[in-house]
This record gives sequence, structure tokens and C-alpha cells, in this order.
Amino acid sequence: MKTEIVSGEDREALARAGGIIRDGGLVVFPTETVYGLGADALSDEAVAKIYAAKGRPSDNPLITHITDPAEAEKYCFTDKRYYALAEAFMPGPITVIMKSRGVVCKTVSAGLPTVSLRIPSHPVARDFIKECGRPIAAPSANLSGKPSPTKLLHVREDMEGKVGMIIDGGECGVGVESTIVKLCEDGSAVLLRPGAVTVEMLREVSGLGNIRIADAVLGKLREGQRPESPGMAYRHYAPRAPLALIEGDDGARLDYCRRMCAEDIHTLIICYNGEEKAFPAGMVAPIGPENDREEQARRLFSILRDSDDRGVSRIFAPLPDSGGVGLALLNRMLRAAAYRIIRV
Ligand code: TXA
Ligand code: MG
Repeated sequence: MKTEIVSGEDREALARAGGIIRDGGLVVFPTETVYGLGADALSDEAVAKIYAAKGRPSDNPLITHITDPAEAEKYCFTDKRYYALAEAFMPGPITVIMKSRGVVCKTVSAGLPTVSLRIPSHPVARDFIKECGRPIAAPSANLSGKPSPTKLLHVREDMEGKVGMIIDGGECGVGVESTIVKLCEDGSAVLLRPGAVTVEMLREVSGLGNIRIADAVLGKLREGQRPESPGMAYRHYAPRAPLALIEGDDGARLDYCRRMCAEDIHTLIICYNGEEKAFPAGMVAPIGPENDREEQARRLFSILRDSDDRGVSRIFAPLPDSGGVGLALLNRMLRAAAYRIIRV
């Protein structure tokens, strides 16, 4: 298939994108978190193409994207908790899971009785969804298992030739996927995936009650325990080379990394800005200032994906702490590292 690549500022192209979606096709579009691979959320046939293009297991449900919080009434059984979240964070990097009304097609929910809804804030995402005139099912626009794409180059690597159109919106500002909150029917709320809307921010929302962090967020599942979100069960975000996270003070971490570089010149070191001088140029990737977790989140996936093209044999990175957006970073990095932590 020939994939048309267009600028998000091209209004005519966005109108054509709407046509592709209404005809049952696929369009990649930018959001404030990561790029999304969109299809008509009301069509099982269109949504099936998303699973095929990504190689995604069919039991892993998709997020439905809309532009106005009130539209949720059509698709879900909402309540006060949803509107409290909408008031605080929408449009923005948060997804809310609620009981389905059965309007969004079955393939989107992968057989679950729930629907996950998100209202992106990215102006191009909003214009695109409005042009489509229907809700848009969209996972991250990567092949299943790879880190989510945050820039055009990475989208093209995974999706060119498989979709009708890719809309370029430059680099994504947040860099990790949305925070996912499930509103349970017993009145409780669970954080299934941490993101730029942090647990600390969620706990400030009155009317939401006490929010529990799902065990799978930090990989604390017991043997045989099923995660609360199907996607948490899959290998994810993994670069080709094995990644290990280093726990310890900065000096000990840098010493350890220097030793690893000396042992194997193909070792890639992810470090904080200012530390790169300790390592051979070309095999070091500064992820941002040590105290700027937002910047680190923005850069993480891009660094992991680029490592695939660099002939890297192994990767070491600092273990982030879990405050604020740090929890989202920690969650993604633990999974990318298959939970390998080295204490120094
Ligand atoms: O920021 C984002 O959320 C991006 C952009 C494109 O909006 N989308 C995204 O989608 O990250 P995806 O498919 O890569 O991740 C969605 C996650 C999966 O782990 C899936 O299992 C979970 O959300 N999920 C979706 N619907 C669910 C549901 N009804 N119940 C439980 N988990 C659900
Ligand atoms: Mg994904």
C-alpha cells in the first residue's frame, strides 16, 4: 500500500484523512503522548486492520479517542468520578475505563465489557478526529512489543506501507502514553498505567476516592496472578539489545558503567545530562537533567528505538525514582529491561 505522508498543518490533507477513516482505512496521527494508529471505532472490520498492522494479540483492547468529555455518554455508563477527572485533566494525557454501552465495536474492547476513552489535547489529533466524524480507536503506532513512536521517523519504520496516511505533528511533547484509570463498578478507582497525569495529581481530585495502584505497574504480580489490563501481560518497549537498570548513588553507577564500557565497546550508556563525558562518544545517550523527569519521559522511547540502529550489544540506564512522572518512567523502563536491576 502507498502511504501518503502529510503535515498536520495541511487542512485539506486532514479532510482526506477523515475520508480514509470513513472508508474503513488506517491513519497514523500525532497526539501529545505518542503517535496513534487510528481506525473507525464503530467498525469491527476497520479495527481488525489495526491488530493486523501492529501484530497485536487480539485479546489486548484499544483506547477510543473522542474530542469532548460529554460524548462519553454515548459509549459508556459514566458517573461523578468521570466528570471529576474530565474537569481536572481533559483534554489531556489520561484515559478512563468504564462500563460499555455496547456502541463501540466489540473488536475495540477485545471482548471486555468495558471501553477506555481518551480526549487528546494535541490540536492536530483533535482536528483529525473531528474530520472523521466518529470515535477513533487507536493504540500507539508501533509494531507490537516495540517502544511507542514519538517522532515521524519511528512511525515510518513501523507503519509505512501498512496505512493510508501518516500525519506528521513533529515530536510528541509528553513522550510516554497516557495515564490509565479504571473506574470500577464497586466505586473504587485503579491506576492501570502511570503517565503524565501522576498519582499525586489524581489523589488531589475530590470525589475520586482512594486510588489504588495496580500490582502490575511495578511488576509485583504473583505467579499465576492475571494483570487487570491485558496489555500489562505482554513484553513491551523492548529494545533489541538487553537493557539493565542500575540502582545506586551516581558515583557508583558511573564507575560501574565505565567498567562495562571498557569490557565491551558496543555497550550503550543512558545517563543524565552532564555525565556523558565519562563515556565514548557515540555510545552514550543523555536522557535529560537528573531532576527533570518530564524531559526524561519525553526522550526515553526515542533513545531505546535509536539504540536498535546503532549496533548496540547491551544497554545500562539509571533506575529512576518513583515520584511524579518518575512512576511512568520507572514502569516503562522496568518493562523495557524485563525487570533486570543491578545494585551497585
Ligand atoms: O497515550 C495513549 O494512550 C496512546 C495514544 C495513541 O492515545 N495510546 C495507547 O494505546 O497507548 P495502547 O493500545 O498502546 O495502550 C492501551 C493500553 C493497553 O495496555 C490495553 O491493554 C489497555 O490500554 N486497555 C485498553 N482498553 C482497556 C480496557 N477496556 N480494559 C483494560 N485495559 C484496557
Ligand atoms: Mg502501545
